[in-house]
Amino acid sequence: MTTSSAPLAGKTIVLGVCGGIAAYKAVEVCRRLVDLGAHVAPVMTDGAERFVGRTTLSALASQPVQTSLWDEESPIPHTRLGQGADLVLVAPATARLLSAYAHGLAHDLLTNVLIATRAPVVVCPAMHTEMWEHQAVQANVRTLRERGVHVVDPEDGRLAGGDSGKGRLAAPDAIVAEVSSVLGQRDLAGAHVVVSAGGTREPIDAVRVIANRSSGKQGYAVADEARRRGARVTLVTTVDRPAPIGVETVCVETAAQMKAVLDGLAATADVVVMAAAVADFRPVSCTSGKIKKSGGVPEIVLEPTPDILAGLGAAKRPGQILVGFAAETGDLVAQAQSKLERKNLDLVVANDVSQPGVGFQHDTNAVTFVRPGGELESHPLSDKRDIARALLDIVVGLRA
Ligand code: PMT
Repeated sequence: MTTSSAPLAGKTIVLGVCGGIAAYKAVEVCRRLVDLGAHVAPVMTDGAERFVGRTTLSALASQPVQTSLWDEESPIPHTRLGQGADLVLVAPATARLLSAYAHGLAHDLLTNVLIATRAPVVVCPAMHTEMWEHQAVQANVRTLRERGVHVVDPEDGRLAGGDSGKGRLAAPDAIVAEVSSVLGQRDLAGAHVVVSAGGTREPIDAVRVIANRSSGKQGYAVADEARRRGARVTLVTTVDRPAPIGVETVCVETAAQMKAVLDGLAATADVVVMAAAVADFRPVSCTSGKIKKSGGVPEIVLEPTPDILAGLGAAKRPGQILVGFAAETGDLVAQAQSKLERKNLDLVVANDVSQPGVGFQHDTNAVTFVRPGGELESHPLSDKRDIARALLDIVVGLRA
């Protein structure tokens, strides 16, 4: 019996179980979610039933296992389950499930529920290493992440058939922690968070630009995490890539365009995070046509761009939190401290982009958070989503 003070009391979780050897671990996940107070509605695929008996899962869940679109009185169990869920969890998620979900294929009860729900979705892939590393599987995982699906990566370890490698279902602890975090952490609810991402492109002529290597991954991770924590999020981006679900996007190209949009948004935003790599210089003029090679090597005269962040710092409202990044190749903390003071910031996220796996284009980053008063906090090389989480933990602390 659970009490209303249990961490997941009042939450309905649809637990989808696919056919893989790791299906037995879903039983433990189910038990822990029920212990935390959740109402767990299990859905098994045909394959799952070859690995665990439905009686086992039904006995531990809050209601009997469902397996089919056709086996109950209600003619539309998928919409009922999808609409009633506070969260849909799929553990284990097979390569086939990930592919079907990424492509919007609804061929059984679980895939129908996934398409029918508006609730957050957590998928926990499990498969052999070769399958996990296959480009098609990775592309499907990427697509799902870009749509705002939470993915609990598989672990390294022993797999079926005596093999070992990456692909083992994450531990029940990690899965339950992710579910709790997605359902529980709403510490930015009510806040408007504005995030910039990507590198600006400054035109030289009709076809050429001055650009940089920013992929936008770090900014997108911050935007996604802020939305997950309940904020209204506006992403000002130069990158042609789908925004996470629920994030409003404004596309820009140049520093001047980014400044115009951010100046407008920052007038009312509670938090602004400048993860974009803004050009420091731009051509004084842009030739209307294409500069011809036959005319010889052109002389391109540059001028400084406006410092967007410095402008936001000068106009900062009481209570507003301004976060800047510092992309450095040495003297990391001193440079970051100088930016913090010059631009009137509350936090600088300093990354030494000369280090392997750090900064531009990587999925990972390593940063030092620099705060007024010289307070430092280093975060080792980790996924950009972990950096985003740590950044927003500090922001939440600053707003308290
Ligand atoms: O996009 P990814 O591939 O994921 O890479 C992430 C990143 C390396 C781009 C990111 O982690 C990062 O460091 N972003 C800031 C890059 C940068 O422009 O740093 P900076 O040290 O030159 O500028 C300092 C701060 O001032 C930044 O917040 C920048 O957005 C801002 N700035 C800079 C120049 C300018 N004209 N206006 C600005 O607002």
